[in-house]
Amino acid sequence: MGTPLTARVRLKLNRITRGFSADEREWRRIWPLLDSIEGWLTAAEAKWLFDAARSLPTGAIIVEIGSFKGRSTCCLAAGCRGNGKRIFAVDTFDGGSDLPRANSFPDFSENVERCGFSSCIEPVIGLSTEVAKTWNKPIHLLFIDGSHFYEEVLGDFNGFFPHVVRGGIVAFHDVAETKPGVFRAWNQNFKNQLTAIGHCESLGYGRKPGSNGESVQ
Ligand SMILES: C[S@@+](CC[C@H](N)C(=O)[O-])C[C@H]1O[C@@H](n2cnc3c(N)ncnc32)[C@H](O)[C@@H]1O
Repeated sequence: MGTPLTARVRLKLNRITRGFSADEREWRRIWPLLDSIEGWLTAAEAKWLFDAARSLPTGAIIVEIGSFKGRSTCCLAAGCRGNGKRIFAVDTFDGGSDLPRANSFPDFSENVERCGFSSCIEPVIGLSTEVAKTWNKPIHLLFIDGSHFYEEVLGDFNGFFPHVVRGGIVAFHDVAETKPGVFRAWNQNFKNQLTAIGHCESLGYGRKPGSNGESVQ
């Protein structure tokens, strides 16, 4: 008698996934859970954040500006698991100046809890530029996805960039002509201050000039 169909499919899948790295297998396992969180991040952008967080040294600090219901926050956290890395999720949780007024904090908290990331994510409720005034920790990855208005995204970058370690990663969501404020800020300002710049769909990213960001200050 032949092998039952389900067993054959499982064997085939095992053979395929054996070729994947441990990180890739981890990503494929967790993505359906992360993808259940409402938000705008595409699958490729989500994976990019996961990989970027994975690449950071033990004890690294990630600052995210604009967390909404936690989609990008949890993708970053998935890349941090078990490594003493922390994410500070800065948001007013009220939609800011370009989303409908609504409190997204209950959904954010529920999603972070449901994904099992409560221990590495710290919400910081407030206006990004106000939070920046008293910020005093080195940042190894700065992800900006708050307001899409030119002056405001510039304010986010100028407030937190001085705290990014040399070689640290800086990434922006919505670097696209459909978001003229972010697009202009990236082209006229941000990309000129970064090295090793690149794009993953609408993510624009680069590194602060200096060493490779491997050491935690
Ligand atoms: C596009 S959403 C973020 C989406 C999120 N990164 C995701 O993956 O789903 C923008 C968020 O930024 C927040 N926001 C906008 N301007 C802000 C500001 N100046 N300070 C803090 N949060 C702000 C809004 O409350 C909103 O939750």
